Amino acid sequence: MIKLAGIEKMNDKQKYNFLLMQLEGQLSSEKDTLANLSNTSALIYAIINKLNWAGFYFMKDGELVLGMFQGLPACNRVKVEKGVCGAAVREMKTQLVSNVHEFPGHIACDSASNSELVVPIIRDGVVYGVLDLDSPELNRFTELEKEYMEKLVEKLNKYIDWKEVTMIQL
Ligand code: SME
Repeated sequence: MIKLAGIEKMNDKQKYNFLLMQLEGQLSSEKDTLANLSNTSALIYAIINKLNWAGFYFMKDGELVLGMFQGLPACNRVKVEKGVCGAAVREMKTQLVSNVHEFPGHIACDSASNSELVVPIIRDGVVYGVLDLDSPELNRFTELEKEYMEKLVEKLNKYIDWKEVTMIQL
């Protein structure tokens, strides 16, 4: 059972360490991938403040398809050639965008989004998808959020069978 009482008293770094600890508890006690990734998006959304969207897109048949998330309904599919998510896949690198309106090809699923952080999910050189965080604030994300969301994806990498999620045939 995940309990979030008391997090409002923590500073950002304490919150993000707490988030990783809760995630470890979730992943080490549950085998089901849908349950694990659903609760991952819920944990992120509940603990990181000033977000309007947090969730996953997974590579299926050469494009990104919407996965588990928290927030308003979002675009079902994102082409790899487009958007901040596509850039994370193409460059195999985290995208920290302080103003999405200045990002060429940005896809506005929710017009409230002003900044975005996208971490690619990579194992053994294969990109399986992305973790995407959106904020209504400009410049919401810093190196701190980047560092911790990359750590979070590393943790998921230890537990999640991405092939099961994406059905990629290797
Ligand atoms: N803004 C993203 C699309 C996904 S939504 O934000 C949920 C992009 O430009 O790739």
